Amino acid sequence: MSASPATHREWEQTRLALRRAWLDYLGEGEPRLGDAEYAALLERVRALEEKHPTWRDWDSPATRVEAPDREPFPLRRHGAPMRSLSKLYTVDELREWETSLLRLRPGGKAPEYVCELKFDGLAISIRYEKGKLAGAVTRGDGVTGEDVTRNIKTIRTLPYRIPEPLDLEVTGEVYYTLQAFDAVNAERDAQGEPLFKNPRNAAAGTLRMLDTSEVRQRQLDLFIYGLAMGEEPRTPFGHTSHLATLKWLGELGFPISPEVRACRTLGDVVRYYEGWMGKRARLPYQIDGVVVKVDSLPLHETLGATSKSPRWAAALKFEAEEVSTLLRGVEIGVGRTGVLTPIALLEPVELAGTTVSRATLHNFDQIERLGLKIGDTVTLVKGGEIIPKITGVVLEARKGARLKTITPPKQCPSCGSTPQHTEGEVDYLCVNPRCPAQAAERIRHFVSRHAMDIESLGPVLIEQLLAKGLVESYADLYRLKLEDLTALERMARKSSENVLNAIEASKQCTLPRFLFGMGIHQVGERTAQVLARRFKSLAALRQASVEDLADVNEIGDITAQSIHAFFRDRQQLALIEQCLKAGVTPTFEEVRSGSQPLAGKTAVITGTLSEPRPVWKERLERAGATVTGSVSKRTDFLLVGESPGSKLDAAREHGVKVLNEAEMTALLKAK
Ligand code: IVH
Repeated sequence: MSASPATHREWEQTRLALRRAWLDYLGEGEPRLGDAEYAALLERVRALEEKHPTWRDWDSPATRVEAPDREPFPLRRHGAPMRSLSKLYTVDELREWETSLLRLRPGGKAPEYVCELKFDGLAISIRYEKGKLAGAVTRGDGVTGEDVTRNIKTIRTLPYRIPEPLDLEVTGEVYYTLQAFDAVNAERDAQGEPLFKNPRNAAAGTLRMLDTSEVRQRQLDLFIYGLAMGEEPRTPFGHTSHLATLKWLGELGFPISPEVRACRTLGDVVRYYEGWMGKRARLPYQIDGVVVKVDSLPLHETLGATSKSPRWAAALKFEAEEVSTLLRGVEIGVGRTGVLTPIALLEPVELAGTTVSRATLHNFDQIERLGLKIGDTVTLVKGGEIIPKITGVVLEARKGARLKTITPPKQCPSCGSTPQHTEGEVDYLCVNPRCPAQAAERIRHFVSRHAMDIESLGPVLIEQLLAKGLVESYADLYRLKLEDLTALERMARKSSENVLNAIEASKQCTLPRFLFGMGIHQVGERTAQVLARRFKSLAALRQASVEDLADVNEIGDITAQSIHAFFRDRQQLALIEQCLKAGVTPTFEEVRSGSQPLAGKTAVITGTLSEPRPVWKERLERAGATVTGSVSKRTDFLLVGESPGSKLDAAREHGVKVLNEAEMTALLKAK
């Protein structure tokens, strides 16, 4: 059957979108597409390839063996969030890190550390109940992961049973040795299947295989590097040192890396890091750095964590791999604040396990600094893993190359308006308030995970909604009706309902999330938190003067002015009103100082609650409780929602008080 070039292009682009989403998913980055969108795109590729079978090849996302069947394993929420490590790249950065620790611990002396290797695999959390292996969940997005218990059980070094009948949850890394990785790829090659790019992707792919007997034949491996818990001064088993905890886990039979070392000073840490830089190639598996952890658990509690990572540990990464490739062109991206960002279009090149064809150039000053021209051969590294960064020009490659100067944009690529540029500043700005690209970015930000968390509303759907004029701003999301969505191309009834439900659920949000989602200049997640804590309600924040704002600890003059101006902007106020009228209720609950009804208590949450779990966690913590991931005899309360898990049994067994939401609410109100 002959097909129009447009159809062929659509097929190609859809495949590419799926591939990107898939790579992100395997790499455990931000999911690029909502589940509904992903399914719809996959369906589209399948349909096109049915019609045009000659287009189909081994690389088709519709036929690839490991094309993610999105939910082959049940999703489970982690008891305690699985955070990631902040990354350091140089010894100087390591020193700064220690200085920042000392600042948080005034008068204290430098802590002692434990150093470990940073295994390049996949994080996993494994639960034991009464000493028996009970479940294993991948990190996923840190809050929810996939229950891959049956596949984890194939790992030979993992004990099924530990010598004591304990309830505990350990965390660790699943990985392939290089030898096992080669064997897997040799097998795939023989079967004509596409090869895994690196051991990490292979481990991720294997863990998610539906056929467990297949997984068993492969040789996945595992290191345990800790107990799953928050920042608590001691483990439920009484340890107050990380190293002692690891030793104890080793005695229980868990596979602990033999390369763990106590480092009494930062100098010892540097020696460990530099030592492994030279020796890493001798290891039978891949590492991408070392991990430094403060040894004292009470100090973990003092130092605490940000929403992303603990302050008591950091990854010290090895220098990134560098490759070179051709700069084919420059495209202009439009951010949610109107900043026009140059994006390099590159001859696709392999870098640290993924194919890179685009990289941000940040701004036009950067282009000038690097002296970049289109047609140049450029060097590229992966800074911070996900986003590739252009580091320089290979001047020797210029001979004979046809070069083209890169000039700042004369118009916004989305709306065509003339960009504004202030002499002495770096940015070129699209100042058209109705620019469609900005609108799309603003809505993407509003629905993003750390803002209103409307995950089923992915970028493709947002584009469609904007293109059809169904929404112009985030506030319009609350006006959408089922017919609006089902009328869109490739939106089935079920997916449309899911989207609407997610939008509805987002109405019960916390004030910091709403503030962050609105996209006030200079207001990130942290500032949104600080503002909520100080002003407690949107109404109060709206009234605040520049002085009131600048008075708040952590908020500078520029941010204060930006917030003040935001709440004097008619258009912004109209959007806020529209949201509030639609029923969005941003709430913030205060700690009633001096009357923390749960002070010193330990609570665990299980089952589905009427509000998201992080909301409950925050509430319990504000009431003075420590919220942990698993029930032990030290737990004081178990908060149960619908269809509770095994934690309920554990609570009954330990005689832990079990409360439903209403009872907990009553308790929180008690003086
Ligand atoms: S400790 C709060 N120790 O690195 C996080 N992580 O971004 C505690 N990793 O996905 C993690 N080796 O899977 C820790 N020895 C080690 C590690 C390690 C590798 C991974 C981990 C996580 C990522 C951190």
